[in-house]
Parts: sequence; structure tokens; C-alpha cells
Amino acid sequence: MLGNFSYSNPTKLYFGDDALLFLKDELKNYGSRVMLTYGGGSIKRNGIYDEVIRILKEAGKEVFEDPGVMSNPTVQKLYKGCKIARENDVDLILAVGGGSTIDYAKGVSVSAWCDEDPWDKYYLRMEEPDNRIIPVGSVLTMVGTGSEMNGGSVITNHEQKLKIGHVFGDNVMPKFSILNPKYTYTVPKYQMVAGIYDIFNHICEQYFSGEDDNTTDYLAEGLMKSVIHASKIAVKNPEDYEARSNLMWDATWALNTLLKKGKATDWEVHMIGQAIGAYTDATHGMTLAAVSLPYYRHIMPYGLAKFARFAKNVWGINTDGMSDEEAANAGLDAMEAWMKEIGVVLNAKELGVTEDMYEGIANATFLLDGGYKVLTKDDVIDILKESCKA
Ligand code: NZQ
Ligand code: ZN
Repeated sequence: MLGNFSYSNPTKLYFGDDALLFLKDELKNYGSRVMLTYGGGSIKRNGIYDEVIRILKEAGKEVFEDPGVMSNPTVQKLYKGCKIARENDVDLILAVGGGSTIDYAKGVSVSAWCDEDPWDKYYLRMEEPDNRIIPVGSVLTMVGTGSEMNGGSVITNHEQKLKIGHVFGDNVMPKFSILNPKYTYTVPKYQMVAGIYDIFNHICEQYFSGEDDNTTDYLAEGLMKSVIHASKIAVKNPEDYEARSNLMWDATWALNTLLKKGKATDWEVHMIGQAIGAYTDATHGMTLAAVSLPYYRHIMPYGLAKFARFAKNVWGINTDGMSDEEAANAGLDAMEAWMKEIGVVLNAKELGVTEDMYEGIANATFLLDGGYKVLTKDDVIDILKESCKA
């Protein structure tokens, strides 16, 4: 294990098909003014909104609604949410939705009482909050980001063509999250598989770094196997409770601060994916899927032993008699076959990427140094070109 670290996670989880029953108890811990934050309306169509409103009313809360959080929440929406939170002096932000809604709620929680421009302070300058933070609770309806148990808050600034995530600390992470796998049954298939790939890639981003014998890598392999297994079932039968509940739990553990402990971690696929998102507003998990194979094939020679291990331990390939290179290639071929089977996007053109964007996307990509190779801007352009040929 690398370095010295401490570990704690303040988010309390309630899991299972009765999990919402616990909202009532949690609400007792906060004042009477609750901001109810949600997305474009799916929670009204599937009945979750009515259930939540009933519980809030029974608990005697005054509800201030903040609907319309879009996928890839924007800085303009963040400013509006801050106004609602501040003018109504809310005691709790209850985010009901997917990663976008929960990320946005965290953004509002640190920004509502911030006197500077929160985009500049938190997302460009990456400063930590030094003002009042409004507590956030979540009811998760879509699986993938891990936002329900982490400090991540990703905001898009279309004017500046930047999509940036700030990973806040314990004081900003949701105080509680309610995880009912049945709530994910109504997620459209495109979003479901994007979420599944997002989970898988969160694990890869942490797995493909370092050369030591590290407990985290064994945990990562187990989680990846569960995602692969459950995803194959869920794409055939979205209402398979066992598969959907495993995927929900996988997503939470893939990015709830555990796996990164004692690891350098990579995150370059996310950096390219976010830059694509800033240009195209495409679905997050699909941006990752579109660049993953070209990226991993590009860096494979620099981390050969880990890629060979990935083939054997994650994909179950009998690598006896193969060179590390042959094994590594076989692993990525197996990953490609799985990605095709579940139906993720492999070509960035399908997400709206055009040749004239390559340069801008490469410029908007943060180049990190925790993985097996530090990319150059030209490498990013090659990866984009490769994706657009797929
Ligand atoms: O807006 P509504 O109407 O609710 O519809 C949403 C949205 O259209 C729909 N949906 C969600 N739950 C549903 C449902 N539709 C039917 N039934 C349900 N139960 O699904 C669509 C996608 O939702 P969204 O929240 O945008 O997806 P996701 O959870 O993938 O979140 C994406 C955002 O999270 C960021 C991404 O960059 C992106 O901005 N990320 C956050 C991270 C974190 N906090 O650590 C890490 C990730 O890597 C990621 O960057
Ligand atoms: Zn992600």
C-alpha cells in the first residue's frame, strides 16, 4: 500500500426495497426548511416524487422545490439553485435523482453562502469551502457515478467549454443516501448501460496504476467481476432485482473513496471524457466508453504486467503460455466484446465529436500523472481519432 492515509466515510446508507422508510428518521436531524432538488421529471412519472413529498409533509417540513437539474448540470443552473437555497434559508438539500442531481446539490451546498463566484473558487481554483455548508441527503434513482457516497461535484460551463469535477471532503459528502434498487428499473436502457460502464471505468481508473501488490487491486477485481456478471443479466432483464441491486452496490463501492486508498490512481479516461462532455454535452458514461479502448491500447505497453493480470483475473482468460503482451491484448479484446454485448458507444462521432473539435478537446483535457503513461496533447488527439474510426 502506498503512503500514509486515514480512512473514514461519513455517509450513512440505507439499502434495499424498503430503504425509503428511513427517510422519516433522517429528517428529524434537520430543520424544517427542505430544498427538494430533482431532475427533468422522471421522479414524477415513476411515483418517487409523490412518495418523497408525502414523507416530507408528514414530517412537517416546508418544501422549496428546485426542479430541472439537467444531465451534466451547468454553472447557470448552479447559480439559480444557490439563490433558492439562500433566499429560503434552507436547512437541508434533499437530492432525488442520479449523479447530476446529487453533484449539483453538493455544488449548491457549498456555494449558496459563498460570496465569491463559486465556479471560480471551487472549480477553477479548486479551493475548499470556508463558509456555511448546507447538508445534503440523497435518494438515488440512477446508478453509476457513486455521487451518493462521495464528495464529487461535476459542473459544466458551456461558455468556457469546460466540465470540471471538484472532489470535496467529508463535510460536503451526503449525510445520508437512500438506495432502493427498484427505483432504477425505469432508467432508460441507454442511461443504464452508460451508468454500468461508468462504474466499470471508475474501478479501472483506480486499478490501472502502481506496480505493488496492493489489497485495493484484489477488491477492484472482485467488483469488476460483479459488474460484468450483473450487467449481462440487467441488459436482458432490467427488472432483475438481484442484478440491479448488485450494480447499485458495486457503483457505490467503486467510487466511495475506498479503492483509491494506497494507490496513485489514473483518471485520464475521465479527463478526456469530461472534455468531450464540455464540447458535446454527451452522456458521461458513453464519453468514457468511446475513448477507453483506444486509451488502454495506447498505454498498455507501459503497464503490461497489470494488463496481463486484468486478462487473467477479471476476464478469466487462461494466459498460460502467452506472453504478457498477448495476454494483455486478449484482456482488452474481452473487454471490447463485453462493451459491445451491453451496447455502449464505442465511436466518439456518435456523441457529436467532429474533427474540428479534436484540438479544443485535447486542450480541455487535464493531463494527469498517476497512470502508466503521462499523455501529451498529441496522444489525446490520436485517441480521439482512433475512437472516431471505431
Ligand atoms: O432528469 P431526470 O428526468 O431525472 O432523468 C434522468 C436523466 O435524464 C434519468 N433518470 C435518472 N433516474 C431515473 C431516470 N429516468 C427514469 N427513471 C429513473 N429512476 O437518467 C438521465 C441521467 O441522469 P444523470 O443524473 O444525468 O446521470 P448520472 O447518474 O450518470 O450522472 C451524470 C453526472 O455525474 C457526473 C457526470 O460527469 C455527470 O455530470 N459524475 C459524477 C461523479 C461523482 N460525483 O463522483 C463521478 C462521475 O465520474 C461523473 O463525472
Ligand atoms: Zn465517471
